[in-house]
Amino acid sequence: MTPEQALEDLTRKGLLRELHALPDNRGRLVIDGETWLNFSSNDYLDLGHHPALIAASVHAVEELGCTAAGSRLVSGHLDLHARFEEQAAALLGTETALLFGSGFLTNLGAVPALAGDKATIFCDRLNHASLIDGIRMSGLKWHRYRHNDTDHLDELLAKHPAADGETRLVISDSVFSMDGDVAPLAEIAAVARRHGALLMIDESHAIGVMGPNGAGLCAELGLKPDAITCGMGKAFGGYGGFVATSKTLAALIVNRARSFIYSTGLPPACVGAGIAALDMFAATKGALGQDAMARAERMHGLLAGAGFEMPPFASPILPVMVGDNHAAQEFQRRLAARRILCSAIRPPTVPPGTARLRLTVTRAHTEADLLAARDAFAEVARELGLLP
Ligand SMILES: Cc1ncc(COP(=O)(O)O)c(C=O)c1O
Repeated sequence: MTPEQALEDLTRKGLLRELHALPDNRGRLVIDGETWLNFSSNDYLDLGHHPALIAASVHAVEELGCTAAGSRLVSGHLDLHARFEEQAAALLGTETALLFGSGFLTNLGAVPALAGDKATIFCDRLNHASLIDGIRMSGLKWHRYRHNDTDHLDELLAKHPAADGETRLVISDSVFSMDGDVAPLAEIAAVARRHGALLMIDESHAIGVMGPNGAGLCAELGLKPDAITCGMGKAFGGYGGFVATSKTLAALIVNRARSFIYSTGLPPACVGAGIAALDMFAATKGALGQDAMARAERMHGLLAGAGFEMPPFASPILPVMVGDNHAAQEFQRRLAARRILCSAIRPPTVPPGTARLRLTVTRAHTEADLLAARDAFAEVARELGLLP
């Protein structure tokens, strides 16, 4: 297939992805003089434009410049990185934490590093792409268990016992990024423990939003997985990623994770903003996350009240299911005509036949915004025959 044919093929299947530049990405933004509502942002706490984060980021740049100028193991490890890591570990109650360039790079590096070269990995079917790619990078044997099905996980662990000296690693998201549902973490942890397997949880969509002081879902449930990973492009309102773990596992990661070893350290601007976000979680004692959750629950109720079949409320990520790829794209276009920004999510990000609008609620959204979104969603759904 030529590149042109490949693009035509994607278009025919309703799977073509294209970039659309925005002048801004706040919850409410102005495009060509018109106000739009953004329901596609992961900045759940609306910290991305908070003066405290901007000031911390600017201060870090003024003090330290724009780059870490080397990988962490060479010359790119700054006191500022160490400060973030200490504070993140304190929040999550782990011995230490380790910053990476992004959430994707964290998972890409941490999965193979934790597993080592003799291991079997057990992974939820709907885990984030970065976890899957981390597993693929490892080149190890792996088994996918049915989404959130701990009996299936148990069965697979029993069927594939650890060979001599072999590690077994269980991996799950805590909040699933495209469905917004949460994993049965207590059961997963119990199954992993019973089988002597290591446990790694991606808390990218939970830290800052859920748990005591925004420490995430594991903290809320009193669970201590072997490693917790998090991307900072969501509730942190910034960029970067980290793994929170024991000193021993962190030392292994420093020695093994290729996306840590062979990549420039996170720039000061991002680390400064990250520390300010951690300060904000602590100062507000988790209230910002609770507020984001309350607004999301209100939106969930509004959509259900309008006739949408909604899954039980669990997080600020609300999937509005469409099914067909072309219909999901048309839904997005018609929302855009009403000045609502909400992205259609299609395969391979989600399984075939489950294209959807992924609506995210943030602290930037007012009650009036939620009502406007509900009305726009209901109108478009009626036009497309998805609601009576
Ligand atoms: C669950 C999950 N993990 C990891 C990532 C990757 O994080 P980042 O965007 O910081 O690369 C994302 C999303 O982007 C995510 O949703």
